[in-house]
Amino acid sequence: MQLIDQETTPVIYRDLQRPLPTIVRGEGIYLWDSTGKRYIDGAAGSSAVVNIGHGVPEVIEAMTEQARKIAYVPTHAFSSEPIEACAQTLVEEFAPAGLDKVWFVSGGSEATENAVKIALQYQRDRGKGTKQLVIGRWQSFHGATLASLGYGGNAGRRKKYQGILSTAEHIGPCFPYRHATGDEIEYGLAQADQLDYLIQQVGAENVAAFIAEPVVGATTGAVPATTGYFERIREICDRHDVLFIADEVMSGFGRTGKKFGIDHWEAPPDLIACAKGISGGYTPLGAVLVRPEIVGQVRGTGGSFVIGHTAGGNPLSTAIGKAVLDYTVKHRLVDNAEIVGAYFKEKLVELMAVHPIIGDVRGLGLMLGIEFVADRETKRPFPLELQVSRRIGDATLERGLVSYPGQGTVDGVVGDHLLCTPPLVITKLQIDELIEILDASLHSVERDLRVV
Ligand SMILES: Cc1ncc(COP(=O)(O)O)c(C=O)c1O
Repeated sequence: MQLIDQETTPVIYRDLQRPLPTIVRGEGIYLWDSTGKRYIDGAAGSSAVVNIGHGVPEVIEAMTEQARKIAYVPTHAFSSEPIEACAQTLVEEFAPAGLDKVWFVSGGSEATENAVKIALQYQRDRGKGTKQLVIGRWQSFHGATLASLGYGGNAGRRKKYQGILSTAEHIGPCFPYRHATGDEIEYGLAQADQLDYLIQQVGAENVAAFIAEPVVGATTGAVPATTGYFERIREICDRHDVLFIADEVMSGFGRTGKKFGIDHWEAPPDLIACAKGISGGYTPLGAVLVRPEIVGQVRGTGGSFVIGHTAGGNPLSTAIGKAVLDYTVKHRLVDNAEIVGAYFKEKLVELMAVHPIIGDVRGLGLMLGIEFVADRETKRPFPLELQVSRRIGDATLERGLVSYPGQGTVDGVVGDHLLCTPPLVITKLQIDELIEILDASLHSVERDLRVV
């Protein structure tokens, strides 16, 4: 096996601890490494990125054609055809009603941070300059920059930077499997009411925006908020004149079986941060969808948003984004996520009968998660040092399935889960293939842990 040696390579990889195989090709839901070994891309990248699958000819044609014409224009002085076309498709085919303006960036962290900056500038420009605080939720992830880690609530990822993160306040998560003791809807509403309480404590005149993932991805493993939760959040934001930002970086573009994750609730946000599925991994691209009133306010002052990035809205990336979005629409991938996602969830629930370490199966569409426990009755997590999710990730990789393991599910430190977000083009037959590998991998880890 030809593996990259971490000692000798000039590259700094995300995982510095293990030798890495080299992927040389991808097609549909499959990847091949340099030895010819085939893998199912069961997380669609890292993760929920490659929604339309690998090697799609239409996208390759669109990127080649655009690169031949022009790859980059000076965006401070010019528009280009692809930026207009991509924004048009985003607004017409995907955005909830009323989010008609699009700001392009290069990824998810930039998208959430730019959404926050747009919100802050809006508050200042309309004479509400004291509204500077952003409220997020514990057990959430909004990006890896210092600002996004600050309003994010992933304890494990924040720890190394404590003391220098951007200032933000947090309310508790909406995580019924771990915290609801009675009726889940009542629990969810009480969790949402924490926002009302916190805004009253710090003063509404100081709060600019609230940011949340409709379905929490990397931190807890596909946990959707409960019924009624975001409607209550919307009411609270309206009552206190606070903007609501939905972080759809992972849950957007059909991932949850609807266009955006927030579409599962009647709670239209003021801004949406998105990335990943917008360009399906074919190029780095992200966007912020914004209510026109917000843009109008800033424009009305005679100014512009002070947030530009060099690569934002370049013609090559937006042409690729447009081709990926067109493919998503043409092949009805939002519907496929709902239908095949329901089948996948059923199969994962069936695995619970034979695998005692599965504590919970959850999620929407093809954004599913499995939480692992040492004891199903008490929901006791495995000790951190057993590295259970990592072992499961290694076991699936060995058998030809790329999964996305996560730790810190319970409180940011302990707890194990697997995020199951295959490409939206996956078929039921391919789900069976994936389940077979996952089943064998879980058996092998359970034998190691002497659980069975
Ligand atoms: C919900 C959410 N927001 C933001 C981000 C950050 O995106 P990026 O890694 O593209 O910066 C991620 C990445 O996984 C995410 O899942």
